[in-house]
Amino acid sequence: MKITLSVIKADIGSIGGHIRPSQRLIGAVRSHIMQHGNDMLRDSHVSSTGDDIAILMAHERGPGDEEIHRLAWEAFLAGTAVAQEQGLYGAGQDLLKDAFSGNVRGMGPAVCEFEFDERPSEPFLFFAADKTDPGAYNLPLYLAFADPMNTPGLMLAPSMTAGFRFVIMDVNHTEGDRIIELEAPEDLYDIAVLLRDTERYVVESIWSRASGEQAVTVSTSRLHNIAGKYTGKDDPVMLVRVQKDFPATGEILAPYAIGPYVAGCMRGSHQMPLMPVPRNSDISYFDGPPVVSCTAFSMHDGKFTEPVDAFAHPFWDKVRDRVADKAIDMRRQGFFGAAMLPMSELEYTGIMEKLQVLDGRFRLRD
Ligand code: 13P
Ligand code: 13P
Ligand code: MG
Ligand code: MG
Repeated sequence: MKITLSVIKADIGSIGGHIRPSQRLIGAVRSHIMQHGNDMLRDSHVSSTGDDIAILMAHERGPGDEEIHRLAWEAFLAGTAVAQEQGLYGAGQDLLKDAFSGNVRGMGPAVCEFEFDERPSEPFLFFAADKTDPGAYNLPLYLAFADPMNTPGLMLAPSMTAGFRFVIMDVNHTEGDRIIELEAPEDLYDIAVLLRDTERYVVESIWSRASGEQAVTVSTSRLHNIAGKYTGKDDPVMLVRVQKDFPATGEILAPYAIGPYVAGCMRGSHQMPLMPVPRNSDISYFDGPPVVSCTAFSMHDGKFTEPVDAFAHPFWDKVRDRVADKAIDMRRQGFFGAAMLPMSELEYTGIMEKLQVLDGRFRLRD
């Protein structure tokens, strides 16, 4: 049967700063989905990562469906009312428009979704990251889908040896979706040229070249492109189908052991290492570090199994220790050099106003 998986995610308020939503807030979003989504949804799962709440939904209505998007938008409105009542910080932070207009894309919430013929066994992974932006997935996806040093399946599995097609979006282009399609392995160097620039070029989807099936969908929204000013990071969500024609779960997870430096953390303005964390983790050190959680599901007829926490395994404790060391090392250099993002990424914040004032005070010496 044809199933659509949709994830719609927003920050609508959190306790003690940008740390985590309250249980009541998550409860309000969940019960709205339960009460109003019954006729439309095969299944749903509401979870939080840092201060973000993600609604994962299985249905048969296809991507971009107005009623599915409206359901999520209204669930976030119901949650925002609770956030206001409780005095949570940033109540309604990511709901940037007043009225719903048919689709939550361009309204603040992050969206990733795809439709496929459900396999007899349909294992998939749901990733959610906080205090970073969609480019954070560029390196893990490149390694998992294009590098045999990470993914032996590219050599061993007959259905994978044809490689994968990467659809990459220029997220600075705000007038529409500007995309390029590149094929691994032939276009490997071109893919690398783009993916190294995580603030501009973001993997949007990945497709099996052997079967034509879609493996990956990533949310690509940039909040400052919507709001025209800094309103928070673009905390990305991603769905990855695994096994058979696609990399194994372990091949998808392995790159997160690197703890690569990504954009984000404090005030969305720094470079800090990405820490793989258990589900429903909080935020702490320096409004970070940037975190990523991964939940594994299997699905049949659009019904989910119970969630399995992919980064809860003791292996990742060691990785977290190393990432914490990297984070502290980077913070030792404060505002200096690579610790902060380049000016282009700070353009809508106070530093630009300061620079303008200072610019007027410069003079040419006689
Ligand atoms: P399957 O062959 O059962 O898909 O699993 C692949 C595998 O060996 C994972 O490491
Ligand atoms: P969020 O985007 O997760 O709300 O974080 C905002 C921030 O800048 C924290 O320092
Ligand atoms: Mg927040
Ligand atoms: Mg957030």
